[in-house]
Order: sequence, then C-alpha cells, then structure tokens
Amino acid sequence: MTEVLYRQLADEVARRIDEGVYRPGERLPSIRGLAGQRGVSIATVQAAYELLESRRLVESRPQSGFYVRHPVAAATGEPPMGDGPVLPTTVSVRNEATAALQRCEADGVLNLGAALPAPEFLPRRQLQRILSRLARHHIDEIVMARFAPGLDALRQEVVKRLADAGCHVSPREVVITNGCQEALNLCLRTVARPGDTIAIEGPAYVGLLQAIESLGMKALEIPTDPRDGVSLEALALALEQWDVRACAFVTTNSNPVGASMPDEAKQRLVAMLAARGIPLVEDDEFGDLNYNRTRPRAAKAFDEHGLVLYCSSASKSIGSGLRVGWCAPGRFENDVEFLKSFSSVSSPPICQMAVAEFMASGGYERHIRRLQSAYAEQVQRFIAAISRAFPRGTTVTRPRGGYVLWVGLPGGVDAAVFHERALAEGIGVMPGHLFSAAGGFRQFIRLNAAVPWDEAVETAIAALGRLAVETAGTLRS
Ligand SMILES: Cc1ncc(COP(=O)(O)O)c(C=O)c1O
Repeated sequence: MTEVLYRQLADEVARRIDEGVYRPGERLPSIRGLAGQRGVSIATVQAAYELLESRRLVESRPQSGFYVRHPVAAATGEPPMGDGPVLPTTVSVRNEATAALQRCEADGVLNLGAALPAPEFLPRRQLQRILSRLARHHIDEIVMARFAPGLDALRQEVVKRLADAGCHVSPREVVITNGCQEALNLCLRTVARPGDTIAIEGPAYVGLLQAIESLGMKALEIPTDPRDGVSLEALALALEQWDVRACAFVTTNSNPVGASMPDEAKQRLVAMLAARGIPLVEDDEFGDLNYNRTRPRAAKAFDEHGLVLYCSSASKSIGSGLRVGWCAPGRFENDVEFLKSFSSVSSPPICQMAVAEFMASGGYERHIRRLQSAYAEQVQRFIAAISRAFPRGTTVTRPRGGYVLWVGLPGGVDAAVFHERALAEGIGVMPGHLFSAAGGFRQFIRLNAAVPWDEAVETAIAALGRLAVETAGTLRS
C-alpha cells in the first residue's frame, strides 16, 4: 500500500461527501467492495477510511462499517442583525486588533484571521513578467517619485473599473493611494475632524475602526443585516438623533459579514445623505468579487452631488503587497489630493505601472473571473467543513462574493478566549469584538476562506469545531 494511494482515495471520498453523493448517516461502500471496485488492497481502503475518521468526516460503527458523520453543527442560520447600542463611541481597538493580526501572521500559525488572499490566488507569474520588464526598460521612471494624484495610465484603468460599477468619472477625478486603507484615511480626514462622529456598519471592517480611532473620531454603529447591509431605517433614526459628520460603509460584499446592499438601497442611501449634505466614504474593496459574475453598482453610481468618496484597491485581486489603491472623492478631490501629497507623496511608481499594465492587458478580467469561481468554491468548502465540525446552533454567513465568513458560536463562547486557544493550537482567527466600537459581537469569529483548501485547513476547521465545544460557557456578562 502506498501512502499516496490511500490519501488520494480518502480525498476522493471526502469530495463525494462534500458534494452530497454520500449523505450524512449513509453507509460508505464496504471496504472489501470498494477495494474490489477500485483494484486496490483492503489495507489501502481501510487506511483511507481511517484517515477520513481522523478528519471527523466519517465514523466507524462496530460490525457495521463506516458511516458519514451527521454534521455536529446545524450551521444553516445566518447571524442576526447587529444590535449594538446606537450611540457614538470612542474607538479603542488599536493595540488589540494589531496584536491579534500580528499573532495570526506569526510563523507556524495557519492564518485564517487576516482578510488577505493567499499568494496562490494572485496573478504571480504575470506580475513577475511585468515587473522584470518594467525594471529593465523603465528604471528612470521607477526611481523618481511623482507627486499625487498618481500615474495617468493607472487612473485611466481605474476609470474603466469604475465604469463597470456604474460610476462615470474622469481620470482627473481619481487619486491613487497606498491601498484602500490610505484612501479611507485620506477621505475621513477630508470630511471630518477629531471628535466628529462617523456612522459605520455594526460589525465594521477593523481597519476602518482603527482609522477612526487614530484620527480621534467617534464611531456610531448602525445595525447591519448580513445579507442586505446597513439598515436604512436605523440609519435614518440615528441621523435624526446624532450629529453625524460622515458615513463610512462597505456597500458590496462587506467585511466581515459579506453583505451587499441592493441597488435600490444604495440609491436610497445616497439620496438620504444628500438631503442632509452628509458625505459617504464608500469602501468598494470587494466589489469585483461577486460569485455570479455580475458587477454590482457602487453607491457612487447614484451620486449626483459629488458627496460620495469612492475607495478601493488592487489588494484583494492582484496583491496587497503592491499597496495600490485609489479613490474618486467627488467634490473633495482637491482636498484628498493635497492630503495625499503631504502624507505619502506618491505610491511607488513601479507598483502603479505594474497594476496599470496588468489591467490594460485584458488579463485582469480573465483573472477576476477565475478568482470569482475560486473564492466561491473556497467559501463553499469552508461552510461545508464548518457545518460538519461546529456544534449545533452555530451560525455562518452565506456571502455572495468575497471570501470572509462571520461565524456565530453558540453556548456562551467568548471569542477572545476562543482566539487564544486557537492560537495555542497554531490557528489564527479574528475575534468578533474587534469589529465593534462598542465591544459587541463577542460570540463571533471571522474566518478568511482565501487559503488554499487542503488537509491542514480541513484539520484546522475540525479543531476549531472542537474548541467551540470546549470554550462554551467562557463568556462573562
Ligand atoms: C473592507 C476593506 N477595506 C479596506 C481594506 C484595506 O485594503 P488595502 O490592503 O488595499 O489597504 C481591507 C483589507 O482587508 C478591507 O477588507
């Protein structure tokens, strides 16, 4: 019996279980029967079934054979709407969030915490070719920084991407930034001052919370539906009650809950804010990554008054290490450009040139289509594994794009304790309270599914499912 053979057989059976060919509670083919059918030894099938048993996919029943395990979890429900206090709050996630992300990144840790795609999903070969050609032929441009607003060729490509999202802006209205994070920072600084209140989703992208904290602003969490995004009814009430200086929302395939506001809601949002003269900082970081290949419109598409400051980047599709992002800040273009020049001068020319060339080559569209399918498959596999391994009562989001999952743990699990125990087993996850200014969502974790699916990931999810049982009751009220 070769090791390769029984592992291959185990993977094949695991795939069939994933696809529902063998259903929970069903008996697998007998060892003797499968050995005869596949022309392999009985020992090979026995070893394959035992491997599946150690992965908690199947269980052996004495004198009866191997059966597909019933999912321990009924991870079918979606988490409820955020119900944190609608009250402007001073944010203080800084040290804890950075430390959590750094610990997830440490050597020897399987990083399911940071929302970064693994290199395997990125166009590494194309970039290698483009970067070495640029280094050979364009060294003079590469060594010279140019002041904002950024490389014309890239701004032209960005305008095409914006047009796909229904936004008609000219290259002159685009400012290139160091990733979407810098775009968010510059836009917030442009529209608000320290002490001002920014309405955000609940739960919100942790980097947005950190930006708000670093700028001395306050956050007002608006309840957010994991499917349709921020509640416009709750937002309308909050705007009546509080002096909100700006809103900052991820409008499509949000992080962490994977929500997408329907077009009609985006339109209503933009109109509601325009009526009050309130700017919207729109984070469209995952907008290109819908699984069904449609490109949802951005809220910016409905902006008639230049009040939407659109932000995005190449980080989730081409590579976050390039630090290439952009914003289309509407009527605030001059201010954002000024702040960009005097905060980081310019984004590295070689990175801007590489992204522009990749986008112009037509390779970007092909790559995005591949990514959409790859991320959809990853997310499906993660959800299937979570529903097998996690306890009954677990909830998990069903995103329609992107690659992050928001998992609700039953039984009074404190996700901060869960995070520590997971790290001790070499697995990085992000605890939910770091996505909240008000310290809510303590029973949630966020998982990054853009990590190539393999046995180590499957084993890690099984371990997380066990930890969810072991840490029940750790939450103190
Ligand atoms: C919603 C969202 N916005 C912005 C960013 C920051 O992206 P970048 O790496 O381009 O700065 C991230 C990164 O995780 C994100 O998830």
